[in-house]
Amino acid sequence: MLIKLKKIGDEKKGYLSFFESNKDIPFTIKRVYFIYNNSKKLKRGFHAHKKLKQTMWCPYGEIEITLDNGKTKKTYKLKSPNELLYVEEKQWREISWIKKDSVLCVAASEYFDEKDYIRDYNQFIKYIKGKKNEN
Ligand code: TYD
Repeated sequence: MLIKLKKIGDEKKGYLSFFESNKDIPFTIKRVYFIYNNSKKLKRGFHAHKKLKQTMWCPYGEIEITLDNGKTKKTYKLKSPNELLYVEEKQWREISWIKKDSVLCVAASEYFDEKDYIRDYNQFIKYIKGKKNEN
C-alpha cells in the first residue's frame, strides 16, 4: 500500500514530511536502515519475511519495488520523498535502482533476525501454502 505523506513548507524553504508509529503506519518502529551508493542497474531484495513489517521510502532518486504475495505481483515506483510504501509480512520483494545513487530507507517493526528471512522463492511459496492450511 502506497501512503502519500503530508508535505509541510514550500519551494523556497523546502519541504518536511514525517510519519509516526501506529498513527501513519500500522506498527511500532524498532529499527531503521538504509541502502545507498548503489550502481545504476542494481537489484536487491529477493527475499520475504515471515513476521517483519516495513515501510520503505526513497528520500533521493527513484526506486522500483515489486511485491509478490505468492498470488499477485504489484510494482510500485518511489520517486518522491513523501511516498511511503507499506510492506506487510509474507511479501516477496524485488527492488530495482532506477537512478544511480538513489537512497532507500526502511523502517522496520522488529530487530534484525536472520531467522525471519525466507531467501528462496520456492520455499516462500511452500511457506505461504503451509500457512493457508493452518487456518
Ligand atoms: P539484506 O536484508 O539481505 O539486504 P538485501 O536484501 O537488500 O540484499 O541484508 C544484507 C546484509 O545486511 C545481510 O547480511 C544481513 C545484514 N543486515 C543486518 O545486519 N542488519 C539489518 O538491519 C539488515 C537490514 C541487514
